[in-house]
Amino acid sequence: MSDALELATRALEHFNEGTTDCAPSQMRIPLNAYTDESRFVAERRAVFLESPIAIALSLEVPEPGDFQTQTVMGVPLLITRDRDATVHCFINVCRHRGAKVCQQDKGHQTRFSCPYHAWTYSNQGELIGVYGEDSFGEVDRAAMGLTELACEERAGVIFVCLTPGKAFDIDHWLGEFVGKLGDQQLTDWHLYTERYLDGSGWKATMDGYLEVYHHDSVHGKTVGPHTVGNLLVHDTWGAHQRMAFARRNITELNDSAPSEWKEPESFIRVVHSVFPNLSISAILGGHCLVGFIFPGETSTTTVTRQLILSAEVPATEDATQAIETFSQMTLQAVRDEDYVLVATVQGALGSGANDSFLIGRNEPAVQHYHRMIAEVAGK
Ligand code: FES
Ligand SMILES: [Fe+2]
Repeated sequence: MSDALELATRALEHFNEGTTDCAPSQMRIPLNAYTDESRFVAERRAVFLESPIAIALSLEVPEPGDFQTQTVMGVPLLITRDRDATVHCFINVCRHRGAKVCQQDKGHQTRFSCPYHAWTYSNQGELIGVYGEDSFGEVDRAAMGLTELACEERAGVIFVCLTPGKAFDIDHWLGEFVGKLGDQQLTDWHLYTERYLDGSGWKATMDGYLEVYHHDSVHGKTVGPHTVGNLLVHDTWGAHQRMAFARRNITELNDSAPSEWKEPESFIRVVHSVFPNLSISAILGGHCLVGFIFPGETSTTTVTRQLILSAEVPATEDATQAIETFSQMTLQAVRDEDYVLVATVQGALGSGANDSFLIGRNEPAVQHYHRMIAEVAGK
């Protein structure tokens, strides 16, 4: 049975029964899990700085010689694809006196000359040129390449560990989930647009990505009309999660046996959530919303790098209009609906109204996420 058929079957059953996938019990999360700054610092370190996190999609640096820069959680990064098509991630900081080496957002070049004193590095990070070395004095080039971070590419996603010298086993980290990610064929999509959104604290923000309980109430004018509220089909692979929602047309599946269903994927919406910070939401019609969520310096802020992908390069005016409409709809849903509401949660964490949050049985993905934070952070 294909995944889409299995998910549509489970979603239809829930739709007909008025049920949803549930956790065995409710969960209490003490409020200090959201507000305690020392706990935040420790968890941010364990979960985001010392564990692999997703930072980009392969399609952002598709060809040998392509590069991209980003600042992730205060660390300037240079991501390159070398002539062997291997992806590297360097700290985008010169080894001479620390200037930002590559100042462009993205492009195609194989060597990078520091704008300060013109030391030059290859896209494999080697120091290949020292301006005025006769007078500067000899430089041990082998020891003075760009600082490289452990970086792995799987299923169209680029993962790094932001702590220099710390390696990770990506195959162990992703486990069988890599197959589910691979099925999304992310390398075949095209980047339509990229944008950054400021948000509230890390956990309050992520909670909103991990349940469908709010869809009818918060997204009544955007994504809500397309999906059935409070109906979740939920699976986990280690720390990672898949959530499927039923589209409103799912009732049509009652007209025929599952063996007759032609395109079961057109009756569901599937979100892949890669722990701890990547959400991939493939939407019917060749459109995909991708969010990389990074905690800020304190427990009260996040930065989201949001990508809008299209299955095909929009070649007609209609196709361009369709992806633009999707892009605006998701911007409204995330920035103007989710994040506005989450800001009210964030703003009132210190109000004294709650000393814990009660997470429902129908919010199993939220429960799982918080359990995984505790596991990774060793709490
Ligand atoms: S800081 Fe880069 S060459 Fe001096
Ligand atoms: Fe939402």
